[in-house]
Amino acid sequence: MSSQPLPGFRDFFPDDCARRNYLFAMWREVARRYGFVEYDGPTVEPLALYEKKSGGELVGQLFTVGTRAEPGEAKGALRPEMTPTLARMVAARERDFKKPLKWFCMPSFFRHERQQRGRLREFYQLNADIIGEASASADAELIALVIDILRGLGFEKNDFVIRVSDRNAWATFASARGVGAERLIEFLDVIDKLERAGEEQTRTKLAAFGVALEDVRKFIADPAAEHSSLRALTDDLAARELDGFVELDMTIVRGLAYYTGFVFEVFDRSKKERAIAGGGRYDKLLHLMSDGKTDLPALGFGMGDVVLGNMIDDTPHAAEKMRAWIAKQHAADIYVVIAKEEHRADALAIVQQLRDAGYRTDFPLAPAKVGKQFQTAEHLGARLAVLIGDEWPQVKIKTLATREEVIVTCGGLLEKVAASFAVGG
Ligand code: HAM
Repeated sequence: MSSQPLPGFRDFFPDDCARRNYLFAMWREVARRYGFVEYDGPTVEPLALYEKKSGGELVGQLFTVGTRAEPGEAKGALRPEMTPTLARMVAARERDFKKPLKWFCMPSFFRHERQQRGRLREFYQLNADIIGEASASADAELIALVIDILRGLGFEKNDFVIRVSDRNAWATFASARGVGAERLIEFLDVIDKLERAGEEQTRTKLAAFGVALEDVRKFIADPAAEHSSLRALTDDLAARELDGFVELDMTIVRGLAYYTGFVFEVFDRSKKERAIAGGGRYDKLLHLMSDGKTDLPALGFGMGDVVLGNMIDDTPHAAEKMRAWIAKQHAADIYVVIAKEEHRADALAIVQQLRDAGYRTDFPLAPAKVGKQFQTAEHLGARLAVLIGDEWPQVKIKTLATREEVIVTCGGLLEKVAASFAVGG
């Protein structure tokens, strides 16, 4: 048996969990600051949900589950993304909620990806979606949320850029060149791969649509010549003084089938990493999902933890912010030092008292030298050590940073401890 997890899967040792907690805390805090509420769905969904709704590369990357399926039971897949689940859930109970819905979640997802930097087979992703609002103010609200999450993590204007685009502009471009609507997704797929695929390959693929590569390049260089729908978005962001984070980039079309108009991806400025986040409008998905019973415009994005983690490590000011946050999550406030084993029972009573009062409190489970116990106290990041020994029924409180000591009666302990934490914040 290997001591490693499967390729693309991760162990989370305590340090890794601390990093994950940091990201999750920031995601949750900023999403709530923007008025989003949390939801979740099942880890396994019918395979057909993704085959029909996600489309693109995702379908070939599904982890299917089905070894226990009864005859006639639908095959399942581990969720590779949230959007089809969200659309299914909203379609089922749409009438119960006031529009627009602003919902977020941050589960793990599974994709059988090729091994590469920034891509794993199990990863976390913040999803934030707005359902029931067609105007560009919703697009701007979403972009502002992305910006404030990244700023919350310590990134600055020079660290990242949001590249926005519009699939409708490409639809207009394609139809003007005789590409039928039924082939649009296929055409967009060629554009999506433009930056990654070889020139000759792209040229050949475009030729099948009767489109020249030079024509595509010209449109990317000067899209305003044919279309400009992003003005309302940038005006809204400008009112928030957030427009400097956004750039128009027609090479962004997104790889998933359900997007209908405005789309965006977020990148590090140095372009060393894969996308940090991506999303856009999917105004027809709810209609499709509900067999025409509901018809709500929708938009959202997913922001993964993997690229974000790489970027934090590579950006000193963001890394420093994370370290400072993690340092505050120390394991113990107070360490109870048992200097005399005959007082272990008294010490346990005090440990319990301190824990009841809400202090993170730890103590030696087995007899240990006093010096060792103080080392442990330092290691756990405790502010105070409470020493139980010779002075009993009095105890010694030591402030570890200053080495200051006071002796109090057991009865006065809580009050003294509270005073110490009140001063230290
Ligand atoms: P997506 O572009 O497939 O969109 O993923 C969004 C982000 O999730 C990516 O930019 C990346 O940070 C992260 N991500 C994706 N795959 C992996 C992977 N294998 N390993 C690590 N990170 C990954 C969606 O998933 C859409 N459902 C987003 C959305 C929500 N659109 C509307 N609402």
